[in-house]
Amino acid sequence: MIKAKLGIRTNNGSYSVVIGTNFFNKLSKILRKNGFNFNKCFLLIDKKIGKKRIKQISKSISKKKIIYLFNSTEKNKSFGSVLKILNLLQKNNFNRNDCLLTVGGGITGDTGGFAASLFKRGIKFINIPTTLLAQVDSSIGGKTGINTVYGKNLIGSFYQPNLVLADTLFLKTLPKREITCGYAEILKHSLISDKKLFLYLDKNVQNILKLKSPFIEKAIFKSCKIKRDIVQKDEKENNLRKILNFGHTFAHAYEASMTYSKKLNHGEAVILGIYSSLKFSLDNKLINLSEFNLIIGHLSKAKLSYNVSKYFSKIDTKKIISYMQNDKKNNSEKINLILLKKIGSMELNKKFSKEKIRSFINEKLLIN
Ligand SMILES: NC(=O)c1ccc[n+]([C@@H]2O[C@H](COP(=O)([O-])OP(=O)(O)OC[C@H]3O[C@@H](n4cnc5c(N)ncnc54)[C@H](O)[C@@H]3O)[C@@H](O)[C@H]2O)c1
Repeated sequence: MIKAKLGIRTNNGSYSVVIGTNFFNKLSKILRKNGFNFNKCFLLIDKKIGKKRIKQISKSISKKKIIYLFNSTEKNKSFGSVLKILNLLQKNNFNRNDCLLTVGGGITGDTGGFAASLFKRGIKFINIPTTLLAQVDSSIGGKTGINTVYGKNLIGSFYQPNLVLADTLFLKTLPKREITCGYAEILKHSLISDKKLFLYLDKNVQNILKLKSPFIEKAIFKSCKIKRDIVQKDEKENNLRKILNFGHTFAHAYEASMTYSKKLNHGEAVILGIYSSLKFSLDNKLINLSEFNLIIGHLSKAKLSYNVSKYFSKIDTKKIISYMQNDKKNNSEKINLILLKKIGSMELNKKFSKEKIRSFINEKLLIN
């Protein structure tokens, strides 16, 4: 059942994000209703969504289709995978009016979206996100891309999808840790712009984490709306869109210094990053103690682990700082941090010396 539809304006047109439960098997009908009239469809599908769902999706598209089952790892978010997709599109005579459809998490969407942006300078692109993170974050806003040996997401394009279909049924097979990943981004969205949503999350966090209806759909919708409102104002991340990186400069450095080990996944790193940025905001007298404690209380209630020293020791600080400095959002010797003044209000362009951040990490975060 479709529960909500969100329109997103972009510099070159608009698209819809459709949110609901158990509607993806009526794909052909939905595509027709949304004005899609292609002859061929390339389906890039994450293997892990399971045979049953793959069969249902394949059956629901009556047009000629090529199915590519994708092993979605950060290693496969690569030029090699994009090349394979582009070759198959060429081999099967796809043209710009045909369609590339991704079914999977952020890795599948980012890789497929990038291939879609390159093929004949842009083929139609439909994204069916199947992780919570992809449903609330990566499927919206048009960032596509791949990793290289030099780092994550370093090659990419801004390429907007023509349609996003977020069906919560997919989330039922998602491992619990992946649910936490998506929840971290929902929480981030509430902190950067909507105290009312934060209070809703605080009241209903257990129902959301258990994927109970209507709580999960409402959390997804509100989260998408916040991201929509931000990317509509600043599609190419000139300024405002940077607030979406709240917690992420720390988080990316934590992930990188653990060489993207499975011991700390992206969402867990984001929780550590949110905590680090919050504590830094408190130490720099931006946020007051009662708002800080409100958020910490929520992290504890949701059982989200924010203890940085559980993963790192003082020995790692040099590495963490160097990754923070190399973050692609930084363009000077100093490190730019996105900080919180109060829930829903951000400080965007504050830069700090490496020394200040080093002593903060050593003295305030890594306290065993
Ligand atoms: N484009 C953007 O704006 C943006 C924003 C945030 C993150 N990202 C990118 O997104 C990626 C992370 O996304 P993600 O967390 O969705 O990762 P992901 O695509 O790796 O999915 C996480 C795991 O869940 C599995 N999976 C996917 N759907 C499933 C389902 N329904 N049931 C069971 N297992 C399933 C995947 O195979 C994978 O093992 C990163 O590469 C990150 O850089 C992009």
